[in-house]
Amino acid sequence: MKRLSLLPLLACALASVAAAQEPVLNLYSARHYQTDEALYQNFTKQTGIRINRIEAGDDQLIERLKSEGANSPADVLLIVDAARLAQAKDLGLFQPVRSKVLDDRIPAELRDPQGEWFGLSSRARIIVYNKATTNPADVASYASLADPKNRGRVCTRSGSHPYNLSLISAQIAHLGAAKAEAWAKGVVANLARKPQGGDTDQIKAVAAGECGAALTNSYYYARLLRSAKPEDREVVAKTGVVWPDQAGAGTHVNVSGAGVLRHAPHRDNAVRFLEYLASDEAQVYFADGNNEWPAVKGIKVQNPALAAMGTFRVDPLPIATLGRNTAAAQKIADRAGWR
Ligand SMILES: [Fe+2]
Repeated sequence: MKRLSLLPLLACALASVAAAQEPVLNLYSARHYQTDEALYQNFTKQTGIRINRIEAGDDQLIERLKSEGANSPADVLLIVDAARLAQAKDLGLFQPVRSKVLDDRIPAELRDPQGEWFGLSSRARIIVYNKATTNPADVASYASLADPKNRGRVCTRSGSHPYNLSLISAQIAHLGAAKAEAWAKGVVANLARKPQGGDTDQIKAVAAGECGAALTNSYYYARLLRSAKPEDREVVAKTGVVWPDQAGAGTHVNVSGAGVLRHAPHRDNAVRFLEYLASDEAQVYFADGNNEWPAVKGIKVQNPALAAMGTFRVDPLPIATLGRNTAAAQKIADRAGWR
């Protein structure tokens, strides 16, 4: 008994020595925003820990970690969406972290109960509509996108994309699997065109009148709102935003998040980095860099686009619940033909 309980302590002590010897953090990040530079430089200034960064798409980073296995040099994985965070967790890529700072600052509904990942910023899945052709009252809820009155008027990217898988996951949590599947089939029946492109392509198709309404993550619309390009100004002028389900469960939100990797060579530095990302200063940079909201409550971001979009009631469903429903959501997307 005694020997067993001493082993983890010894491992911790050794890890601390290793970390002290090498003030380095290897970060695999799916983020690539200008403001992140300042974020990482400030961490190095405060701690003396240098950050080596590998940037790639979320799926590429997960594939890379799978193939590197125990030899991976990576300490932290930073990716977006509950569906992908759950995938990384299910693959056993993360290790649990208990940190009073993270537990105190990151709301429980935005992090993994086992401490394998922590949400650092949030985004909403909203509905954008064409002001000339569509009454916002007709597209005020996710359910309305499946209503026969919107036949041939809805645009969306593939149902297999993590953003839509998480939305289907939320529908499963609220309605049960059978009704969630009926909803997905209703959305597919209402499509104006075969799912194609990303969220920004859907917003542009709405502005062009190809569809009356579309699903998009909030930051894509905020990015257009902040753009000075004449073609983006035109898209914004022709479209409006609905916060879905304000009369129901609230608007579906998701997170950007990070976790410490199972084979992290610099575990202590990794935890320090996550704690730093939860600090007031880092939260502002982190969220604002992609027009998102800070995960930590009570932090104000001076973002004109988010301010212009207004406030809304959030669906309080825990993000970890979405992750647990992802596999069922994928089956629903497949059966509904939401490709
Ligand atoms: Fe995105």
